[in-house]
Amino acid sequence: MGAFFRAAAAADIPPGTGKVVVVMGREVGLFNVGGTFRAIDNICPHSFRPIGAVDFDGKVVTCLWHGLGFDVEDGRCLQTTEFCVETYPVRVEDGQVMVSLGR
Ligand code: FES
Repeated sequence: MGAFFRAAAAADIPPGTGKVVVVMGREVGLFNVGGTFRAIDNICPHSFRPIGAVDFDGKVVTCLWHGLGFDVEDGRCLQTTEFCVETYPVRVEDGQVMVSLGR
């Protein structure tokens, strides 16, 4: 596991919401699942467009482009086993959400 980098203030992402942030030049979807933060790559494996963080039901984010849903806890796609998004380790330090890109 690589170094952790500040991604956002925890207070900016209330439970049941998400936000796209840039960590070390990479777009990351940050989500608050009932008080636990999760991070996924923001590039959809379907056609390599941004997934976004707007359509989030508290556990699953739905890609803005063609509607595939991804469980933000493990990155799996709900509609097909063909696709999966990368997940990243997250921790919270002093009210800041920190993400490791694993590099
Ligand atoms: S690009 Fe995400 S569902 Fe097609």
